[in-house]
Amino acid sequence: MENFNRRDCLAGGLALLAAGCAPTMGQMDPADPPAVAGAAPETLNALARAKGLMFGSCLGTGPSGASGSFQGKRANSFDDPNIRALMVAQCGMMVPENELKWYVLRPSAKEFDFRRADRLLAFAEQHKMAIRGHTLLWHNMQWFPKWVAEYDFGTRAEAERLLREHIHTVCTRYGTRICAWDVVNETIDPATGGMRDTVFTKYLGDEVIDIAFQAAREAAPHAQLVYNDYMSWGPGNAKHRAGVLALLERLKKNGVPVDALGVQSHIGPGATDAGAGFGPAEKEWRHFLDTATGMGLDIVITEFDVGDQEMPADIATRDHEVAALSRDYLDVMLSYPQLRYVMAWGLVDNYSWLEDRWPRADGLAKRPCPYDDNYQPKALREAIADAFRAAPARAPLVTG
Ligand code: XIL
Repeated sequence: MENFNRRDCLAGGLALLAAGCAPTMGQMDPADPPAVAGAAPETLNALARAKGLMFGSCLGTGPSGASGSFQGKRANSFDDPNIRALMVAQCGMMVPENELKWYVLRPSAKEFDFRRADRLLAFAEQHKMAIRGHTLLWHNMQWFPKWVAEYDFGTRAEAERLLREHIHTVCTRYGTRICAWDVVNETIDPATGGMRDTVFTKYLGDEVIDIAFQAAREAAPHAQLVYNDYMSWGPGNAKHRAGVLALLERLKKNGVPVDALGVQSHIGPGATDAGAGFGPAEKEWRHFLDTATGMGLDIVITEFDVGDQEMPADIATRDHEVAALSRDYLDVMLSYPQLRYVMAWGLVDNYSWLEDRWPRADGLAKRPCPYDDNYQPKALREAIADAFRAAPARAPLVTG
């Protein structure tokens, strides 16, 4: 089976999955009970695995340290033993929420601080979870640490040197422990569909993206290399989608090693500008996914959650709407055999970054995640489980 899958991937020119992912996918039969005493038999990851998929979530060790309202005050889920237990029970994959971003890893041009990322990786490995890396280049000025945002490289060579050094250092430190990398995050400006201007494009132009992927392939040849962004299906997102496709086309034409499109999937009315469901926009969204997969790319859901700021206050009604929208969305996404795994951006509402962003007009707490603040499953958890149950089976990703 593994050999067939590997050949299949090679023949299709698709992503090879990392060695780090193989133990988790291969270690037990999907029908086996999870390795945690007392956990429900049908865990989200077991249901996903039964279809050749994986399910996971982000975990965070503390504030992001980013500036302004983006400090990420809630990103400390790892300190909560109940969250760790839920992770172990439900997840086959973990991604650090902030710990591999420049603003945590790079206090200055001369330093790397891996302590927080190391804690998360040790935990994930102890519990046999595969690990995603997020992100080698969040190519948006807002998210660079101050010293990078204010850096004037002076020469093209220096800009390229700093970028390559960063990618090389981070990728080689973790090696095959990280099986997939969001190499570049959010480089397309949704307002224009063009590349965002940054300190790097000033010297490297659009080629900054090519360099990042090439450096990642050199330093992590085993890893699935992902372009990750938050385009969605609404009419207001048309430029964003077109810009992402144009970028991917250019990368493919230039032989740049990109394996998969990461669809962040922060869905919800207001966030995805398409009301409570797809409506006629489903056609546009499928066209977008068809075009990306037509380039030979895999798809991955990297940051799934539901912004409920425009939904009714009543909790039962709201949870129902969140679940119904999610089921529609996941059914469409899972209908693509190229979709390889689903990552939630947090398991429990209280730790969600959305609680501090785009608040509800009525001031109520949001309910974006599959579990409530008492760690109990919500309708959303059932919707994800049902979507996995209904999903067509696919060959699991295999190691490269
Ligand atoms: C968010 C974190 O959840 C916050 O803690 C932090 O303050 C800001 O970043 N898209 C991404 C993620 O690619 O990295 C973001 O994570 C959410 C939006």
